[in-house]
Amino acid sequence: MDTGKDAAAASASAAAGLRGVVAASSSIGDVDGERGILIYEGYDIHELARYSTFEEVVYLLWHGRLPKREELDELRHSLGNCYELPSQVLDLMRTFPREAEPMDVLRTTVSALDFYDSGAHDTSREVSVRTATRLVAQIPTIVAASERLRNGQEPVRPNPELNIATNFLYMLKGEMPTEEDARIFDICLILHADHELNASTFTARVVAGTLADIYGAVTAAIAALSGPLHGGANTNVMKMLLEIGDMEKVEPYIKDALAAKRKIMGIGHAVYKTEDPRATHLRKFSKEVGERGGQTKWYEMSRKVEEIMHREKGMFPNVDFYSASTYYMMGIPLDLYTPIFAISRISGWTGHILEQYANNKLIRPRAEYIGPRGLKYAQMEER
Ligand code: COA
Repeated sequence: MDTGKDAAAASASAAAGLRGVVAASSSIGDVDGERGILIYEGYDIHELARYSTFEEVVYLLWHGRLPKREELDELRHSLGNCYELPSQVLDLMRTFPREAEPMDVLRTTVSALDFYDSGAHDTSREVSVRTATRLVAQIPTIVAASERLRNGQEPVRPNPELNIATNFLYMLKGEMPTEEDARIFDICLILHADHELNASTFTARVVAGTLADIYGAVTAAIAALSGPLHGGANTNVMKMLLEIGDMEKVEPYIKDALAAKRKIMGIGHAVYKTEDPRATHLRKFSKEVGERGGQTKWYEMSRKVEEIMHREKGMFPNVDFYSASTYYMMGIPLDLYTPIFAISRISGWTGHILEQYANNKLIRPRAEYIGPRGLKYAQMEER
């Protein structure tokens, strides 16, 4: 029966999807969608991609400034000491079905980490930074271990001497990555670290705003990131490229998709109206990794999709578009692209959670009520 809900929804005035609504004050990151500029704590993303490391960016997002040498050494040391998972958590992971989605495995495992951290419910700054350190250190271990376990292999023990990027690739494949791959992966982590109030970060802040613990806030953020309209887009980009198969089929495929009003994954953005500055670096990596692997086909097909989408719709690639072919050429399984997003974004989530705890106010907006009022209760037989 038509309840009039659709008509009421159509006349609603609240900003759909909260577009343009400012919902928090933050010094962590800022996106200028008109000019295509992204900054972390005042530093342009291009500067950070060129000169910094992921660990430096983690420090920056938590403390609001770049670390001095000894501060960075201390953070790296603390992270290395936390790489290993509690044995009970690893045992729990062994019970998961092999066909489970990697993002579901990550969500459930992060939630379980809470049990083995005696300070989990302490939201003081000091203990929260310690918890955040564990999460940044252990999420890569979970992702790599789950990949090994589902393939019937033993997880590779983390190496505390390695940085996060190198250690992750090492644990994933059981062999040391090339220096070039490790540095490109490190920059990928920098590029994905924060993006202001994206859906998963907003989720993390809403949960932290109730003074629930960090594990809870991060578990909810992982769930938000898993959706195809958020972090899930990168896997779908690669699926699309594989489905298209070769260069000649790109144009008809995209035209058919547009005619059928299907969205092309990795294209468009809720805030950027020009090139996403992260895509500038990822486009270069896709080409570089492709050339090194002797296979530039996926890069070239991506360029063609980009060109058609710009010509037909005036749209640009987002962060997910070229990360897909970059990771593919690094030999990373498709369904790990979104968990890898989480390996990086945990730095931004925890930065925002620390910021929320430091100046907390329960996040509780209002809804614009568009339903009827004053109805009288009708007995069952009278409806
Ligand atoms: N391919 C084709 N058309 C697209 C599109 C895409 N990737 N993204 C948006 N559009 C079109 C929509 O169909 C819509 O057209 P219409 O007005 O004719 O109905 C219009 O552009 C606005 O789309 P909408 O989804 O309302 O815009 P938004 O600002 O909310 O979109 C995204 C932002 C990211 C959700 C959207 O661009 C998208 O779904 N992209 C693909 C998924 C993706 O890559 N997500 C990762 C984001 S980092």
